[in-house]
Amino acid sequence: MTRNAKLWGGRFDKCTDELVEGFSASISFDRRLYRQDIAGSIAHCRMLAKQGIIGEDESTQIVVGLEAILAEIEDGTFDFKVEYEDIHMNVEAALREKVGAVAGKLHTARSRNDQVALDMRMYVKEAIDRIVVQLRTFQTTLLRLAHTHVDVVMPGYTHLQRAQPVLLAHHFLAYFEMLQRDIARFRDCYRRTDVMPLGSGALAGVTLPIDRSYLARELGFAEISRNSMDAVADRDFVVEFVAASSIAMMHLSRLAEEVVLWSSAEFNFVELDDAYATGSSIMPQKKNPDVAELVRGKTGRVYGHLISLLTTLKSLPLAYNKDMQEDKEGLFDTIDTLLVSLEVFCCMLATMKVNCRLMGKVAAENYVLATDVADYLARKGMPFREAHAVVGRLVRHGIDLGKPLSDLALSDYRAQSPLFDKDIFDITIHSSVAARDVPGGTAPDQVRAALAEATRIVSEEP
Ligand code: ARG
Repeated sequence: MTRNAKLWGGRFDKCTDELVEGFSASISFDRRLYRQDIAGSIAHCRMLAKQGIIGEDESTQIVVGLEAILAEIEDGTFDFKVEYEDIHMNVEAALREKVGAVAGKLHTARSRNDQVALDMRMYVKEAIDRIVVQLRTFQTTLLRLAHTHVDVVMPGYTHLQRAQPVLLAHHFLAYFEMLQRDIARFRDCYRRTDVMPLGSGALAGVTLPIDRSYLARELGFAEISRNSMDAVADRDFVVEFVAASSIAMMHLSRLAEEVVLWSSAEFNFVELDDAYATGSSIMPQKKNPDVAELVRGKTGRVYGHLISLLTTLKSLPLAYNKDMQEDKEGLFDTIDTLLVSLEVFCCMLATMKVNCRLMGKVAAENYVLATDVADYLARKGMPFREAHAVVGRLVRHGIDLGKPLSDLALSDYRAQSPLFDKDIFDITIHSSVAARDVPGGTAPDQVRAALAEATRIVSEEP
């Protein structure tokens, strides 16, 4: 007597405890895989018919049924059931209701273990495509900002102390580079995700004469997996994806931190558009950079998913283990978080106003030209270390008098070194940036060239 009506219930004498049923079910979240799951099943079914493993008419019945299920899920009329545990068995159970016993042939030469591996790979590949598009859009926004502010000089920082003047465009282009690496990382991850696992069965392969290469072609995969045990146990591609996402979020978070600082009264470098800022429920004067703060905050949550996934996989014996079901919520949340962060942050940046005049003014303060003065002496033959000490004393003198270097007298300079001449007063923030005329430097010509190259990359590279 079979008292367990599950698809796998044959050897069970009892029904599953309700608590266990709820505990082990993943349908509340893995329903997001429905499109990939059905596409995989349709390809699998066609392959079974092509190989003569099932009949053509049976295949047609199954495919029609699967397409009807897809339509129901899409228009919201499909009834997902916890008792069917996951997306795979929900679809199969619905298929049986629609087309009857022939539905049972769909799972021939297949296991949920290779099925879920397939679904996850398809899902991650699509996510990467969407993320790369968003990263490109973000880069385009950065390029527009760089282009609009190509002549604006700002103080560059190290240790968050004013260090040397740089072009604001150079600063924006630094983030362009980070995102360029992010795109490369996602593309690299794509290559390893683009491997078709069906045919691995539960872990050892399958006994029927299936055609794996046909499946790979039908489902748009570049290759098929080479080891069935690895194929069902491997979630490296999810780890890599979440790691690449963590790094991308880290980049956004660094820019977010700058927007938070820059929009403070202390910096006053930028003003956020009203549409992308929020107020305070008690302090009427407040305008808060919530979007930037939230992007910064959500970065932690994506890191959390990475650590949680690595910890889940750590020590798992081959091959599939149910622990691996825990890969999904973190993955989905990572995709959602990264996509929405990219989108909203981009809009916020595009509408932000830069206080160019103030940036230029403070770019000259706090002795930021000291390095240029030391370089001046080095050009006249003084060893740089000595020049550093000389200018250090000059700065000290300026601080004591409460004057910037430009307000010191030539005699003050000469008191430190006879190499100084009146052309020392030609050093300005503009000469300072222009002097950094090396590839990758902040000189306007270099930045313009970098901007042109970045624009070419965005328009020519997919
Ligand atoms: N819901 C499962 C998961 O996400 C599908 C695979 C189940 N396989 C199994 N042998 N129970 O991992």
